[in-house]
Amino acid sequence: MVMDCLFVGAGAIASEYAASLQSTRLSLAGVCDIDGERAETLGAAYDCPSFTDLETALAHIDAPIVVNLTSHAAHADVTRTALEANRHVYSQKPLALKADTAGKLLALARDRNLALGVAPENPQGPSQRRAARILASGRLGPVQLGYAHAHVGRVTDWHERPDSFLDIGPLYDGAVYPLTLLVSWFGPVETVRIADALDVWPNREAQRPAASSHVEATLAFESGPVVRLTASFYAPHRSREFYGLELHGDDGSLYLEGTGAMDTAIDNVKFGRNGHEYTPVPPQSPTSSIEYADAVERLAQSVADGAPSRATGRRGAHVVAICNGIEDATENRGPVEVSRYNTSADPFPHPVVEPGALDGSSDRMAIRLPPIGFGCSRFRDGEYVDRRESIATALDAGYRLLDSAELYGNEHRIGKLLAAPGAPDPEAVFILGKVWRTNHRWEQMLEAAERSLEELGIDAFDSYALHWPEAWVHRGQLNRLADHPVERQEALTFPEDDEGNIQTAAISLETAWENLEAIADRGLTRTLTVSNVTTPQLERILETARVRPSIVQIERHPYRPQNDLVSLCHEEGIRVVAHSPLSAPGLLDEPTLRDIGDRYGLSPAGVVLAWNVTHHVVPIPSSTTRSHIVSNLAAVKTRLGPEEIKRIDSLRKTNFER
Ligand SMILES: NC(=O)c1ccc[n+]([C@@H]2O[C@H](COP(=O)([O-])OP(=O)(O)OC[C@H]3O[C@@H](n4cnc5c(N)ncnc54)[C@H](OP(=O)(O)O)[C@@H]3O)[C@@H](O)[C@H]2O)c1
Repeated sequence: MVMDCLFVGAGAIASEYAASLQSTRLSLAGVCDIDGERAETLGAAYDCPSFTDLETALAHIDAPIVVNLTSHAAHADVTRTALEANRHVYSQKPLALKADTAGKLLALARDRNLALGVAPENPQGPSQRRAARILASGRLGPVQLGYAHAHVGRVTDWHERPDSFLDIGPLYDGAVYPLTLLVSWFGPVETVRIADALDVWPNREAQRPAASSHVEATLAFESGPVVRLTASFYAPHRSREFYGLELHGDDGSLYLEGTGAMDTAIDNVKFGRNGHEYTPVPPQSPTSSIEYADAVERLAQSVADGAPSRATGRRGAHVVAICNGIEDATENRGPVEVSRYNTSADPFPHPVVEPGALDGSSDRMAIRLPPIGFGCSRFRDGEYVDRRESIATALDAGYRLLDSAELYGNEHRIGKLLAAPGAPDPEAVFILGKVWRTNHRWEQMLEAAERSLEELGIDAFDSYALHWPEAWVHRGQLNRLADHPVERQEALTFPEDDEGNIQTAAISLETAWENLEAIADRGLTRTLTVSNVTTPQLERILETARVRPSIVQIERHPYRPQNDLVSLCHEEGIRVVAHSPLSAPGLLDEPTLRDIGDRYGLSPAGVVLAWNVTHHVVPIPSSTTRSHIVSNLAAVKTRLGPEEIKRIDSLRKTNFER
């Protein structure tokens, strides 16, 4: 599909569209602007003809798509003229200033089977999609309340030609961003419950807005939420709330820093369960910003597919109806039914928030895993630490793989966290469990697996592991180890004879693996893992296994990369999970890691995690520090280049031992 576009309007935004058109399959065939100089400059820059009159441009340029980049109040007329000339139209926001005009444009497009799209495309933005996934996961519970801001600021300060903004006020420009997002998430607004408008503006300004400069309204969505909206030219765009949106549900809250943002940053999406602080929810895979021309390309694709899309046009028309309703309510001081502004006979599209897969995981390997997991071991520098708070923070930040084990003694605590309001659905979390080496005999393994599942509150593990290949003697079951005194925990898990030597048990790796297979046969786990294996041990399992391991978990970091074992696993379609990725003494002080980190904006720990992910290995760092929990998660969206990978691989220490 290669398609020509005619740009109508050659101002600042047109240059942005033209630049981003270069990376699409669209080409600029002509430019039209009533300001001939502007049209000519843009046309010359892209080697295409320019016009000052739309009828003439349409007569000379047979581009199937018109991109309407004129000033706000001119949108509707230009769109109508282009539709009447049988062109598909993509328009800057708003579609029109009156809902009935917007409705007529939609009807015209529908009658002629033309596509009609309207900006903004912010529901497609990377941060907005991340926020949408949190909403779709149901973690907020029913959403009841929201606060949306559109603090456009003093347009006279930041726009070269502010007149178009001053003519229409902050509703039809700034407010359109949160409204578009909210409508795409929650569906139509039923009522403007109350609205008020102020004419605040500094006296010293030479120009004053023709429409109210500050508007506040409370909107009730048909699907339930009530959102208070503030749109202002007076509140500066550097105010604490710029384009922030905060949603509150029965179980948790969501904060999105910029409803109009086209790019993404670590902490522009935050989630907080009730009673807990907000935790940033960073992206977990490489993300790119949205470009202006992306939406035009999607529209063109719908045309090429023979199904010209009017979906964003319908949404844009409803947004105009909401703005009309708000203005109406400010004048009449009473509730206004938005449905009275019937914009289209087409049914309004329903909310686009759907349960989505986890960010990232563009894995080519056998089973699909999140790019990073969270280590739940309580063991830290020779001591046991309580992990409840840190695991809760990790779940809030978006970790969706928990590395647990009966040895860690806290499965019951994890179970409680997963059952609490605001927790993710356990089905959405990959839970890896491990049977300790004193439980390799069948009866003991079965009892251990069933008890662990009960404590975690799940029916089956996503993967169940032999924690170690070698067996030790059994000294009793390991229920809720964290609730026992340390001496008791250690006597149960590290069985020693009178001389202090560990007592091994004569259970072969093949037998232990057969027992693990029987756990899978009973439906207690979906896949199997073996941890801490050597290459020969893994080969033994692969020779005899009826159910092959899906995951191998090994100690892995730059000092001990175990690359041969990793390669073998990948050849066999086995995923590798890297335990203890950060705790090797001295590792995080390596100048090489610091140097690479400076280039990528990562800490040395972030570099180690990105190195693992670039190798298609899933690291499972543990941390009890909030900022580390978040920055570790954020690091895995980075992929390192071959040069950096080589430098990190060269840190390997032969015979590394802790
Ligand atoms: N299968 C097995 O036999 C086995 C063995 C060992 C471990 N594991 C698994 O692997 C998990 C992780 O291993 P691990 O507990 O040994 O620790 P690790 O993740 O390698 O390292 C944890 C240490 O790194 C620090 N840290 C974390 N993020 C950091 C950052 N961004 N900057 C600076 N320091 C940072 C932590 O301090 P802060 O708390 O201050 O962040 C902590 O001291 C365990 O929880 C467990 O699930 C499995």
